[in-house]
Amino acid sequence: MIFTTELEHILNQIDLDAPIPEKEPERQYYFIKKARKLVEKETQRLGRKPTCCVNTFGCQMNARDSEKLSGILEETGYELIEAEDADFVIYNTCTVRDNANQRVYGRLGFLNSMKKKNPHKKIALCGCMMQEPSVIEKIKKSYRFVDLIFGTHNIYKFPELLCSMFENDRMVIDIWQDTNAIVEDLPVERKYPFKSGINIMFGCNNFCSYCIVPYVRGRERSREPKDIIREIEMLVADGVVEIMLLGQNVNSYGKNLENPVSFAQLLQEIEKIEGLERIRFMTSHPKDLSDELIEVMQHSKKICRHLHLPLQSGSTRILKEMNRRYTKEQYLALAEKIKREIPDISLTTDIIVGFPGETPEDVDDTIDVIQKVKFDNAFTFIYSKRTGTPAAAMENQVPEAVVKEGFDRVLKTVQDTAREQVSRLNGQTLLALVEEVNEQDASLLTGRLSNNTIVHFPGEPSLIGKIVNVNLKENHGFYYIGEMI
Ligand code: SAH
Ligand code: SF4
Ligand code: F3S
Repeated sequence: MIFTTELEHILNQIDLDAPIPEKEPERQYYFIKKARKLVEKETQRLGRKPTCCVNTFGCQMNARDSEKLSGILEETGYELIEAEDADFVIYNTCTVRDNANQRVYGRLGFLNSMKKKNPHKKIALCGCMMQEPSVIEKIKKSYRFVDLIFGTHNIYKFPELLCSMFENDRMVIDIWQDTNAIVEDLPVERKYPFKSGINIMFGCNNFCSYCIVPYVRGRERSREPKDIIREIEMLVADGVVEIMLLGQNVNSYGKNLENPVSFAQLLQEIEKIEGLERIRFMTSHPKDLSDELIEVMQHSKKICRHLHLPLQSGSTRILKEMNRRYTKEQYLALAEKIKREIPDISLTTDIIVGFPGETPEDVDDTIDVIQKVKFDNAFTFIYSKRTGTPAAAMENQVPEAVVKEGFDRVLKTVQDTAREQVSRLNGQTLLALVEEVNEQDASLLTGRLSNNTIVHFPGEPSLIGKIVNVNLKENHGFYYIGEMI
């Protein structure tokens, strides 16, 4: 990232009549300056700043990418708003399950009707879905009104793409299949002033047989520790107290660096950053979770007492078909070890029901693991067939009714065990980071405990961003009602 004052200083020195720089990020600084002029023209035409709405689908990676897009939009002169009647609408898409895609197609029809009323309206699509050639074909054919399409590998080129969009009447499409480039030092506009996600790696090499992420996000690439540390220091200087380190498989961080560094070593470096209060990370793959990491967590004052450890299935046979590279027993042993070494930890997980060939007995195994581990929360998904993945070609796809039956059983088990598990904190007083005013009841604040459990309690909005002591009074399933002490 880069601060506005520093960027301003750089932009002042750029001559738009000089040749366009080849190197990044200098090239994008040039285009930010150029885009400012184009946006300025829009401002004059409209008699006000043009507005932009970035709508994010999918995971924290996408949320962070949207913050990068927002940072650039803000620098070029757009006013960021949340409503889709904005002059410029960007959908940052997800394709991990088919329902995510269907939502995008559904809403595109609605955007088109708005564009018919406002022909100057611009529409851009980016993110994981755009990395699929069949999606691009479909949009070219049936959604001609889209102005700009780009993917996940060239998101840093957004200033340049923005300029192309303004200078072209036709649809601008720029998708890269893969890249090793990691471009630092571009502007970012955070959603929360006091907490931030931060990419430590991109892509995934695991190729779980159901999953499309490795195809749309490319091979695993880690950022240099010094770049990560520098970014966190800047964030802390800017008021951030909690960070979430992001990667599809953070436990394999650093293996492909010129000077390899382990994730646990990175955490120890981050721990030293003064002013930083809390460290979170997502996601851990069970097969790569090291004893070193458990030890570092155990001794850390800042690493939060939460591990998201996707199980996917409790059946060793299905896990093998999924290419997860652990067995039911290995997962159980790992969960037990973590709970033994870090007793106040909360474990959460992801589960897929309905993977090809899954029988009710396999689901019983999944339920058995849930009952033994006792997750604080679990996200349960119905298997979605993703074209191009090995699982999509498997013949024994499970009938819908069977999936539904298994899904309901898993969900019920998750709810029952989580309620019991979360209620172990009843009556305790713990630190919560105040995140926002409660959406339903404005007299309440919403805070997050170190272990990721949510607590609602009476308080003043001025406490947002502060870490306060809260007594946990009533357990309501996945969350608490509490009182500030
Ligand atoms: N890298 C993370 C997960 C990223 S995707 C990990 O390995 O844990 C988030 C979750 O979506 C996965 O954990 C999985 O439970 C779910 N998921 C991925 N592909 C899916 C598919 N084809 N159908 C249903 N759920 C899927
Ligand atoms: Fe997908 Fe598996 Fe990679 Fe997670 S680890 S992103 S589930 S391939
Ligand atoms: Fe979706 Fe892409 Fe994340 S497919 S889950 S937004 S990496």
